Amino acid sequence: MQGVLTGPVIPALIAFGSLVLGSCAKDADRERPAVSTLSASLVVQGKNIFYDRRFGPRPVACADCHADYAENRIRAARNIKPGGAVLGAHRRISAWGGEFTGKALRRYGAGAARCVLRYQGRGRSYDDALSQSESSALLAYFRAVSTGDEPRRVSWTALNRPVDSLRLADALNEALRRRGDPERGGDLFDRACRRCHATGNPAAGPDLRLRLFDARTVARLAWTGRGAMPFFPPDKLSPGDVADLLAFLQTIMKRPR
Ligand code: HEC
Ligand code: HEC
Repeated sequence: MQGVLTGPVIPALIAFGSLVLGSCAKDADRERPAVSTLSASLVVQGKNIFYDRRFGPRPVACADCHADYAENRIRAARNIKPGGAVLGAHRRISAWGGEFTGKALRRYGAGAARCVLRYQGRGRSYDDALSQSESSALLAYFRAVSTGDEPRRVSWTALNRPVDSLRLADALNEALRRRGDPERGGDLFDRACRRCHATGNPAAGPDLRLRLFDARTVARLAWTGRGAMPFFPPDKLSPGDVADLLAFLQTIMKRPR
């Protein structure tokens, strides 16, 4: 027998073997794209929604308010986004401080439907704000940008849900007591507010030069939001930041006559 497998037979067997393996690999390749194309296109669809300023009638995208990268790692990120990073959102066990849990997380994009309804102005209920397939696309995108090590529960630092009146009052008093730096405030305004309160350009919020506001009202709005205006938790805008913003806003707001 051994004699038979010498000479040109072995190379021939190897050639045959690789032919068989080759054709197997081809079959496997033919199978694989079908599956990954499906999930890859879901991820792309989710990413498109995430960056779409025309997803709802108001010209703001998820990406204006949320990072899809680890914010503490990318220090160059200039914009101050009111919402937290969406990394790991697809596997959280609760969103919006407990408003979304269980099946609602899958159905409403881990709580994104609330943002779409309220901040982007799309639909009249969570159900028409975000369809099931849009929710799945967003969840696929959250998964794609995550490392898998993110905590399943995120700590909620907002001052307004539920209204933490003591902490809010403390923060307000501190912001109003400080003497703000208008130059730093102008920089903060560019990074946190200008994309919605641009002066001149079509914007998502009113032109703040046209009215006179009382400092306490502005400071409260920054932390609690109102209607389509999002709230900034104090880890995004501290009392010192708000004091600087107020000092800047005083330089652009309409003066009393
Ligand atoms: C105008 C700003 C704004 C827009 C636009 C916006 N969000 Fe939000 N979103 C917030 C704020 C503020 C919160 C509450 C703070 C937080 O949990 O990040 C929030 C909360 C969330 C949460 C729940 C986080 C949690 O675990 O409680 C998810 C998920 C989310 N947003 C995803 C989205 C997606 C996806 C879009 C786009 C379809 C979007 N958001 C659009 C501001 C916004
Ligand atoms: C995602 C868009 C968005 C961002 C970011 C945003 N705002 Fe607003 N803001 C709005 C909208 C929309 C309104 C109108 C709210 C309403 O209808 O009650 C508003 C209202 C206001 C008002 C009251 C205007 C009035 O005429 O009553 C003030 C003051 C204000 N914002 C300040 C700020 C400051 C300061 C920042 C940055 C820290 C900021 N906003 C960031 C969208 C935004």
